[in-house]
Amino acid sequence: MFQEQLKQDAQRTQACLQAVMHGLHSVPVNAAMHYAVDGGKGLRGFLVQESARLYEIAPEQSVYAAAAVEALHAYSLVHDDLPAMDNDDLRRGRATVHVKWDDATAILAGDALQTLAFELLTWAEIGSANVRLNLVTELARAAGARGMVLGQAQDIAAETAKTPLSLDEITELQGNKTGALIRWSAEAGAIMAERNREPLRQYANALGLAFQIADDILDVEGDAAKTGKRVNKDADAGKATFVSLLGLDGAKTRARDLVAEACDALDGYGDKAANLRQAAEFVIARDS
Ligand code: IPE
Ligand code: IPE
Ligand code: MG
Ligand code: MG
Ligand code: MG
Repeated sequence: MFQEQLKQDAQRTQACLQAVMHGLHSVPVNAAMHYAVDGGKGLRGFLVQESARLYEIAPEQSVYAAAAVEALHAYSLVHDDLPAMDNDDLRRGRATVHVKWDDATAILAGDALQTLAFELLTWAEIGSANVRLNLVTELARAAGARGMVLGQAQDIAAETAKTPLSLDEITELQGNKTGALIRWSAEAGAIMAERNREPLRQYANALGLAFQIADDILDVEGDAAKTGKRVNKDADAGKATFVSLLGLDGAKTRARDLVAEACDALDGYGDKAANLRQAAEFVIARDS
């Protein structure tokens, strides 16, 4: 059920993104935007649509918010892969944007995907002006100097830190780098319904950490043919991860505990949250 829903929601999000980007000038930066949004798992867009379904909000309405976060996530990956950041040549099984085009095109495509995300959140279909304003404000916070950008800066700074980061510091770094966008995605349904976000926030805090731990484990144990990106890079780059601190077994135990915590946070939603619980299990069982 969850796998089918993830696939359907990802297709809906992709169709929305392709539609809003249709007719852009045929210049490399726009081709690079299309290329960059294509091919991911679509987990963040699924979280938006599934959290909206908890409140009887139809995907036709929430898909614009799902497309927004997937555009923003795609931007973050394009920039994350740049030579000045992680210097990666493989993403989603294909050449990274700066390898296929060049650095300038990758920077600009990322910039344009970020502004597209905010434009998408102004779409009237999503809801009242107040709801859209809340989504914009929260995404700006999640993506920027209080959230993802801060986490990325902490990640890069840790590469050259003199002493290894503590568990608390790594938890904070990952909560910003990966957690913030996942939190926004899972809270989006409650924001759209103008209901209490707290349970979804607790779910997402645990889910986001488990997700990044799984990403770090895949860097050690994964297979590039399945993950679609290079593996065994984090240790060489001196990345601060749960794996670098706790070892593989410790990281796996922590991830399992976090999944249990994420599922507990959904108790109040009963059976309606079955897909979100399965999403939490999927996050640590995935091979890509
Ligand atoms: C990868 O995210 C980047 C991280 C935050 C770890 P995903 O694993 O969701 O990447 P796609 O979108 O499926 O390619
Ligand atoms: C990236 O984390 C998180 C982002 C904000 C893009 P990673 O650097 O671990 O992601 P991958 O492994 O390149 O996908
Ligand atoms: Mg990185
Ligand atoms: Mg990276
Ligand atoms: Mg990684």
